[in-house]
Amino acid sequence: MEKIVRIADGIFYVGVNDRDTHLFENIWPLPKGVSYNSYLIVDEKTALVDTVKAAKTKDYLEKINTALNGRPLNYLIVNHMEPDHSGALSQIFQAFPGLKIVGNHKTTEFIKSMYELSAEFLEVKDGDELNLGHYRLKFFLTPMVHWPETMMTYETTEKVLFSGDAFGGFGSLDGGIFDDEVDVNYYEHEIRRYYSNIVGKFGPMVQKALQKLSSLEIRIVCSTHGPVWRTNPGRIISAYDRWSRYEYDEGVVIAYGTMYGNTEKMADFVARVLSEEGLKNIRVMNTSTVHESFIINEIWRFKGVMLGTCTYNNGIYPPMENLIINLAHKGLPNRVFGVFGSYGWSGGGVKGIVDYIQKNKWTLIDEPVEVQFSAKAADYEKLRQLALAMARAVRH
Ligand code: FEO
Repeated sequence: MEKIVRIADGIFYVGVNDRDTHLFENIWPLPKGVSYNSYLIVDEKTALVDTVKAAKTKDYLEKINTALNGRPLNYLIVNHMEPDHSGALSQIFQAFPGLKIVGNHKTTEFIKSMYELSAEFLEVKDGDELNLGHYRLKFFLTPMVHWPETMMTYETTEKVLFSGDAFGGFGSLDGGIFDDEVDVNYYEHEIRRYYSNIVGKFGPMVQKALQKLSSLEIRIVCSTHGPVWRTNPGRIISAYDRWSRYEYDEGVVIAYGTMYGNTEKMADFVARVLSEEGLKNIRVMNTSTVHESFIINEIWRFKGVMLGTCTYNNGIYPPMENLIINLAHKGLPNRVFGVFGSYGWSGGGVKGIVDYIQKNKWTLIDEPVEVQFSAKAADYEKLRQLALAMARAVRH
């Protein structure tokens, strides 16, 4: 029989792993899988907090039935409506037709529009409470972390925060559920990749949410993805605070697009100069072989960004342009950029990147370096000067 993990006396983990899906939201690769976390509170009244992706409903229902042990389900708390958490909603309602769906005004609107359910709704406002018996739930509206209807549910007796997407990330839970049962460093990269690519655009709203939660004593953080933080919840809360304030470390990401290796050689040269300048954090990444979500994850860590491109049809090499378009979506306000690249018979790649930089009001640290076919001695000197300017800028 499936093991049901207990978070606290009457609070259970009933989430599932997904190691089948290649792309989250059909965009973001899942090399380490992902978990869809859901929680069941068994008290005088019973409540389920969020559900899981539709494809995983069978295993999920088995877990819920085991933990309920014949009890009915009274409430379904919907902190977040995105289908990785609401996909099983209709089937849960079919299995427990007497349940009430708990959400805010936007949640009700979204559920009615997405699933056309005839369920009874209990609409809550910011600060409202719901008494389950021993446990008491308090609701905090946290719009745009990650959708407009997003809210968090705080259990006041055990001081458990059911946080929705916040504090969660990619990576299936392979046996260990809690932060003290896993290597947190293994998960932290994937949590930041989730944050930077999916939630990161909404940094000011994350800051507002953190402000709203700041007076709460939070003993356990239960996100909808990734480990449950019961030993060191402060670690993930402060990481979220740093990421949403766009803080950076000293370092440079050099992303390049190359067809025949000329632009790659320029990237490696720049990296070497930066290293000779004493920089330890230098990431050289090929936009043709590394998905942009991993590059953006690194850009979230470091202040310096160098973009190199060959010219393709008088413009930016498409994998590089894709990275820039995605990066522009994120709205990172305070990184510094350097640009280099190559062309054969007409330019356009480097100019295309500079146009994006100007359009997004990003900071360009020095003149771009553009070469015909391959860099020569004079070009390498210009590249050296560009790398030195970058080293100065990231230390500033
Ligand atoms: Fe995990 Fe915004 O969904």
